[in-house]
Amino acid sequence: MRHVFVTRRIPRAGMEILESEGVSVEVGQEREDAGVPREKLLKETRRSRVLLSLLTEAVDREVLGENPRLQGVANMAVGFDNVDVAAATELGIPVSNTPGVLTDTTADFTWALLLAVARRVTEGDRYARDGRFRLWGPNLLVGGDVSPGGSGRRKVLGIVGFGRIGSAVARRARGFDMDVRVHTRGGRERLGDAQGVRWAEWEELLEESDFISLHLPLTPETRHLVGEPELRRMKETACLVNTARGPVVDEAALVRALREGWIGGAGLDVYEAEPELAPGLAKLDNVVLAPHIASASRDTRDRMATMAATNALHHLRGEPAPNPVNPEVYETEAWHHRRSLAEG
Ligand code: GLV
Repeated sequence: MRHVFVTRRIPRAGMEILESEGVSVEVGQEREDAGVPREKLLKETRRSRVLLSLLTEAVDREVLGENPRLQGVANMAVGFDNVDVAAATELGIPVSNTPGVLTDTTADFTWALLLAVARRVTEGDRYARDGRFRLWGPNLLVGGDVSPGGSGRRKVLGIVGFGRIGSAVARRARGFDMDVRVHTRGGRERLGDAQGVRWAEWEELLEESDFISLHLPLTPETRHLVGEPELRRMKETACLVNTARGPVVDEAALVRALREGWIGGAGLDVYEAEPELAPGLAKLDNVVLAPHIASASRDTRDRMATMAATNALHHLRGEPAPNPVNPEVYETEAWHHRRSLAEG
């Protein structure tokens, strides 16, 4: 049984890779606006060798435990907080992701949000569309500079997390002549010999940044990393950008911060209880909201799909996948056992 369960429709490029290998593929949900029902996820996992999942499915211990012949989970995302990786490793199931291919696309979108919130692009769009633009005015939709601009002061960009995406965001800041500060939970050695950035302690980054951009995974340690105390420490004009994972920010506290002017604005691509927005968030003008599309360029989504499909084929063949997130699984007895069950 060479069967892969693809939880929701993925770009054609990925499907073609699976089909060209003669693999039987079942897609759990063809609609774009609906997830795969939990019952279906469990049932299809029972009859599949590999699960090609998206970040919208909770691949938890229950799912992973459904099928002793399950050979792997290929998550089509760089983030994998939707998968219980510890349980997968314990059960001998390799999990893979799609790192690297979405770095530039996500960094570009981070900048799109940052610029949009600073320069009030979406407010301007609404204003023009609504027919309210009657006359140019010196006070109309005045925003904050990103580059030194009129004051000549270099703005401070605080980057939290300095992996592939955080570094790509930092590189783009050079074009805006910014002063880039970085804080990572791994400590200042994570900066390596990165050019043009400077380490900042957490409090210093919060207090001195004009813009703060989050680029770290969701883990128990990073949940609500930015809550009321942190938001209150930020400058009144500061803008927060989140293209990482929603729960890294306490969204209810963020709504209060934006409403009461503790900070100047926010650009969000991700939400704490996605796709729900915290009460009041959508009513605020000083926030730019996107529906989790930071990696959504045609080329990048094709690459993510082909990468996930390639990982899935490796899982299916019982070979180490190119992008495992739990490579230690290949050393375990549980993996060898699972592989022999699948071959048998
Ligand atoms: C998107 O959020 C991803 O993790 O790829």
